[in-house]
Amino acid sequence: MKSLLQTLNGTTNSPPPIWLMRQAGRHLKEYKDLRSQAKTFLDFCYSPDMAVEATLQPIRRYGMDAAILFSDILVIPDALGQHVSFIPGQGPLLRALNGRGDIDQLDPSNLHAHLAPIYEAIRRLRTQLPETTALIGFAGAPWTVATYMIEGGGSRDCQKTRTFAYDAQDDFQVLIDLLVDATASYLIRQADEGAEVIQIFDSWAGVLPPTQFDNWVIKPFQKIVAAVKAVHADLPIIGFPKGAGLGYARFATQTGVDAVSLDSMVPLVWAAENVQPHTVIQGNLDNLVLRSGGELLEMAVQEILSVFSRHPFIFNLGNGILPDTPVSHVEKLLDILRRN
Ligand code: CP3
Repeated sequence: MKSLLQTLNGTTNSPPPIWLMRQAGRHLKEYKDLRSQAKTFLDFCYSPDMAVEATLQPIRRYGMDAAILFSDILVIPDALGQHVSFIPGQGPLLRALNGRGDIDQLDPSNLHAHLAPIYEAIRRLRTQLPETTALIGFAGAPWTVATYMIEGGGSRDCQKTRTFAYDAQDDFQVLIDLLVDATASYLIRQADEGAEVIQIFDSWAGVLPPTQFDNWVIKPFQKIVAAVKAVHADLPIIGFPKGAGLGYARFATQTGVDAVSLDSMVPLVWAAENVQPHTVIQGNLDNLVLRSGGELLEMAVQEILSVFSRHPFIFNLGNGILPDTPVSHVEKLLDILRRN
């Protein structure tokens, strides 16, 4: 039985299962070699051959307990017809949505045809992964995807998106509802094709004050979780409302997710008392501590284990692994965890 699935079903495993956000990607030399063969990052994501290979690379090298599908959260705006590109060294670039007119141009009718290569990658992965490795599918949460669509890319604090949501709440709701439907339907298809767990990334959840957090993070999550579970009742769903702070407690009790991924700012004991009683916890080593390595890494891992590992717990980072993280530090992390 796969350790990650056992944990998500309520078993306390020792050692806990481990995988790392962004485990496939630029910290691996083999990824960089493969990436150089594709013209653009989206070409890479839409090539089943390359996506499968990138997904398998960290499994071969480290024997992680889960593989996360290699793709990106921004395939959804791309599939809705908002052109997306990735500028090397800079990040994503989209033609920003400026109002209701632009929202009304988005077209979900081609969604699944556009995303077909991703479904193909999932089908192939299910036959190629080791028996003990769980396959995680994923999507961005509506709020976070909307920030990229409205800002036209990354931003420091999503000012343009918050302004849009506050000034034109009804129009913003139309966009969020469209993303709820597209995301739920995308995740259902991923599970149809063989994804065994789903993670939903809300990377910008932390910029919202509590009432807005409830509107644009909690409510869309509730709708997506209900829609996916109506079709795949037993599919475990992990939610990651990065930066949610005290909102993590409401998120754990109100959204219906099976597990909550904690960022590294969340105090461990607070989370053990306020989040873990309601849900499985995942997290939350600081990616910079992993990059530093050494004694600090050893101490931080032991601290996390001592607080979380008496209940169902998945070891992970609190945010994605950094490109300049030495492979030897990841190996050391696995050693510490597996000798415990
Ligand atoms: O290993 C894995 O985790 C699977 C693949 C994965 C990628 N992106 C690959 C990727 C996953 C799960 C994501 C999620 C994602 N993408 C998020 C949510 C998690 C988070 O980090 O907050 C977000 C916000 C995005 C959007 C995105 N994609 C940005 C902002 C960038 C540029 C910054 C960066 O890290 O380069 C990307 C590009 C991207 N997505 C790369 C990879 C491997 C780098 C592109 C390259 O290799 O050229």
